[in-house]
Amino acid sequence: MKKNIAVIRGDGIGPEIVNQAIKVLDKVGEIFGHTFNYTDVDMGGCAIDKYGDPLPQDMLDKCVASDSVLLGAVGGDKWNNVPGHMRPEKGLLRLRAGMGVYSNNRPAKIWPQLASASPLKKSIVDAGIDFIIVRELIGGIYFGEHKTDDVDGQKQATDILTYSESEIERIGRIGFETAQKRGKKLCSVEKSNVLDSSRLWKKVMHHLAQEYPDVTLTDMLVDNCAMQIVKNPSQFDVIVTENMFGDILSDEASMITGSIGMIPSSSLGKTSCGLYEPIHGSAPDIAGQDVANPIGTILSVAMMLRYSFDMPAEADSIERAVSKLLDDGYRTADIMPSDEQEVKKCVKIGCSQCGQLILQRLTKG
Ligand code: IPM
Ligand code: MG
Repeated sequence: MKKNIAVIRGDGIGPEIVNQAIKVLDKVGEIFGHTFNYTDVDMGGCAIDKYGDPLPQDMLDKCVASDSVLLGAVGGDKWNNVPGHMRPEKGLLRLRAGMGVYSNNRPAKIWPQLASASPLKKSIVDAGIDFIIVRELIGGIYFGEHKTDDVDGQKQATDILTYSESEIERIGRIGFETAQKRGKKLCSVEKSNVLDSSRLWKKVMHHLAQEYPDVTLTDMLVDNCAMQIVKNPSQFDVIVTENMFGDILSDEASMITGSIGMIPSSSLGKTSCGLYEPIHGSAPDIAGQDVANPIGTILSVAMMLRYSFDMPAEADSIERAVSKLLDDGYRTADIMPSDEQEVKKCVKIGCSQCGQLILQRLTKG
């Protein structure tokens, strides 16, 4: 098969991690007989520097015209003081909205080899951590009106949070369908004790539940959910939530699995053209040092193969190779164990070595 992939390396560690993911993808192509063509797209800080715009329209057009988009990370201190509408992150938000990818899927699964890297007590980790956060991605407070006014001699800032029934319904369906393919438990997370948008959210979810009788729907307030994720994560199968709650909870969920550097994500809308990115940021403090963990990006490529290209065997081969790498004791700095005895069993590796060792472990079956 031939696939055209738009590649956004972005800022900070973005180029390093994406280069490793492409190496792995090319090897998968070689083994399974596929051709992957890449189109470079500038987005984020590097696009601000080049064009004065974090995502020029022709760059967005290239993404929409592709079979899927692979993204590293955007942002950095250098662009912290530019106006809000010009920030590197604005490019990412425009990309998500422009592609119409309303459903962001973020798995929180502990790799058994990394159990000791989790900050949680062993008894909690041993109970199992394997859930998915389905995050609404192109609505809510991220996309409402943002403004700063002068009121009574001082600045007053406003960000508006809006959700319509249809926006809630389409992400709700993804939540139910995801649960149907897994443990059939869906937890809808909101703040219905305070917010109107959350009360509507809850109502729509319960209405939808009638169409999915095989799924058990529960509700949880977002503050309680933040607590439950560290207290008893094994209770969760699928969490469905709005944009900002999902942003915050998915960072928390990634941390309990050991490292945010390991977590991939997929974002999909109405078509099979998806956006695939690790959930971590651009980590400018370690950029260019070849120490970043490329596994979140490499696993994002596996998700692209599975969900957009219908290549499950190819996706399995990447996930198997990552598991084998961990079995063999190789660790990037972020997933090195803290225990001295454990450290002796591991070999510390850098970013490019990590990519190389994974591609050496790729097999067809
Ligand atoms: C994420 C990131 C982004 C978000 C930022 C970079 C805009 O934190 O993908 O989780 O908030 O969605
Ligand atoms: Mg985030």
